[in-house]
Amino acid sequence: MADAAGRAFVCGFPLAHSRSPVIHRHWLREHGLSGSYDPVEVAPERFPTFVSELRDQGFVGGNVTIPHKEQAFRLVAKRTEEAEAIGAVNTLWFEGDVLVGGNTDAYGFGANLDERAPGWQRCNKAVVLGAGGASRAVLYALLQRGVGNIRLVNRTLERAQALANHFGTGVTAVGWDDADAQLEDAGLLVNTTSLGMNGSSGPQIDLSRLPETAVVTDIVYVPLHTPLLQDASARGLRAVDGLGMLLHQAVPGFERWFGVRPVVSDALRARVIADLGG
Ligand code: ATR
Repeated sequence: MADAAGRAFVCGFPLAHSRSPVIHRHWLREHGLSGSYDPVEVAPERFPTFVSELRDQGFVGGNVTIPHKEQAFRLVAKRTEEAEAIGAVNTLWFEGDVLVGGNTDAYGFGANLDERAPGWQRCNKAVVLGAGGASRAVLYALLQRGVGNIRLVNRTLERAQALANHFGTGVTAVGWDDADAQLEDAGLLVNTTSLGMNGSSGPQIDLSRLPETAVVTDIVYVPLHTPLLQDASARGLRAVDGLGMLLHQAVPGFERWFGVRPVVSDALRARVIADLGG
């Protein structure tokens, strides 16, 4: 049973970039809950101690972010199937005295597309750019939703191949040279690389090759309208920004800690956009 007056946290190092307190405090206020959600900056070498003392500190759970996601994966007593497949933990909670680690990024990715591009999962083929940590969550989400033909494009082909092997049938590694050709019959294009973040150039890819019904989404959300999404919108394609993934991935954690399933509303979105400075 979740504790309506519980204490939750987001733990990272450094923590300046985290938007999670804005999101969870918005929901705490909205639901009139007396719980709290606070940033806690913990250096990597102190993270195991922090985790071992969570109960004594009165925490009901929390989020872990860079650079603790892999360490959290190793430290928890139990992991969800998602966390297991993705290889990283971003949400912690207790089941009795057992510390459980989950990963809500794949849920957030799917829920964002459900909201902004209904029917997206009927795409016959998806092209995913990037083979880092974020890509693992996206691949897991796509496979879970039945997208069985995924082309994984990465600058370092070996990294894409390793990830394709990890996920098995359905994911095929492709080099950047073949990326444009893969778009011809793709219903979904996802950018999981950092290209386009904070004013940098977007991925070099020819969106004119995509079918006109295709959906383009970016997990980068600073800026909200990345170069890739601007290009997609200008071509009349459905463009879905990455902010919704951030907002939706917070839902399962809040529900576990505080016992209420929150809603990703326009008001929440506006609040976080204001916090981002835009
Ligand atoms: P995250 O955990 O956020 O996914 P990451 O593990 O550092 O971050 O992965 C970053 C991704 O962006 C990788 O796919 C990376 O490609 P490489 O595996 O070849 O490094 C990709 N990336 C970053 N900068 C890039 C660039 N300038 N050109 C192409 N891909 C880039």
